Amino acid sequence: MLSVPHSFENMNTMVRPAVSINRRGFLASSAGLCLVHLGRGKNSPSLEIPPVDEVSLQVVVDNATFGPFLPDQSLPGLKILRNAGVSSGASLSRRPLMAEFGLSVLAESSLGPVTRRVLVDFGYSPEVIHSNLSLLGIDPRSLDASVLSHGHLDHYGGFTGLFDGMNGSIRKLPLVVGGEEVFCQRVAMVSTPPQIMGALDREQLAKAGFDVRISSTPQLLGGHAFTTGTIPLASFERAAIPTQMRPGVGCDASALSPSKRGAKQIPDDGEHELATCFVVKNLGLVVIASCSHRGVINSVRRAQEISGIDKVHAVIGGFHLVRPRTEAEARRTVAEFAKIDPTYLIPMHCTGEVFIAEALRVFPQKVIRPYVGTKFVLGEA
Ligand SMILES: [Fe+2]
Repeated sequence: MLSVPHSFENMNTMVRPAVSINRRGFLASSAGLCLVHLGRGKNSPSLEIPPVDEVSLQVVVDNATFGPFLPDQSLPGLKILRNAGVSSGASLSRRPLMAEFGLSVLAESSLGPVTRRVLVDFGYSPEVIHSNLSLLGIDPRSLDASVLSHGHLDHYGGFTGLFDGMNGSIRKLPLVVGGEEVFCQRVAMVSTPPQIMGALDREQLAKAGFDVRISSTPQLLGGHAFTTGTIPLASFERAAIPTQMRPGVGCDASALSPSKRGAKQIPDDGEHELATCFVVKNLGLVVIASCSHRGVINSVRRAQEISGIDKVHAVIGGFHLVRPRTEAEARRTVAEFAKIDPTYLIPMHCTGEVFIAEALRVFPQKVIRPYVGTKFVLGEA
């Protein structure tokens, strides 16, 4: 269970005027708090999720950059700002934004006068996230919380770059992870022979400025965002993960699920993986799916279940519709999204070209391409 220190607790328990919401309905009011009581058994959590006025998601690390060639756009409930924050001085910078196979997204939400900043994942390498944050004018000391979606190197590998060079001027940044198994050593099963991916080092995390909180249940972050906790395999999607994990290597085997404790090496099932989500006033859910190893549809379904809100405004992140998933699964995911009918899909990172091509064929108006530096402003204004 999440242990919440005083300052974090204050952010989590901001009191706002309550309004009623019809379960499975859309927001009943344009202001106030969603009172959510899951009622799915005695251990089900209750969260009070306030609809935010606006959330902006800026791509800090992803697979591709696009330079200055894409124009900004204004669409219903979405503004797209390309290379937002990059200096527009008299000369082009000799340091470009960099891309790599990793993911990091900065979520900045506002509710009345209160702004919260949550960083989701840290990319693959410290150098890239450090340089991109600097070029985008993002001060990591301004963050209120962070989330690590799961224990893969392309999501945690850059964490030491976050506060690099700021010794002595940082406070501990809350970092939410979904389970002890995030720390287990992993083996990448995508080459022959398989390669050691490594393990997330909790001592190094502490030295780098993070204060880790482990929670497999939904949590409210900074009073605005919420994490999904463990994502049930509730749709056709299976856990399809190209890694195996070693219980007891890097992690405390006794803190894992009982069926995993005695194993030497087992296929990953993504039990600890999290999505990070928002409810945006009058527009619906925004889901940051990160890598979707438990399935992007399952991630969206979990966010709907926790929030009680069906309407999905945007889903952004890696949808992992590459191996070990199949092209048929990628196409079926598009068909499932057609039923959910999100306003926008922003496929990043490990999504794969088959899904993107099929989504562009079926509902081109929904598909927005991200690039490093792009800021997506999701709100009514
Ligand atoms: Fe990934």
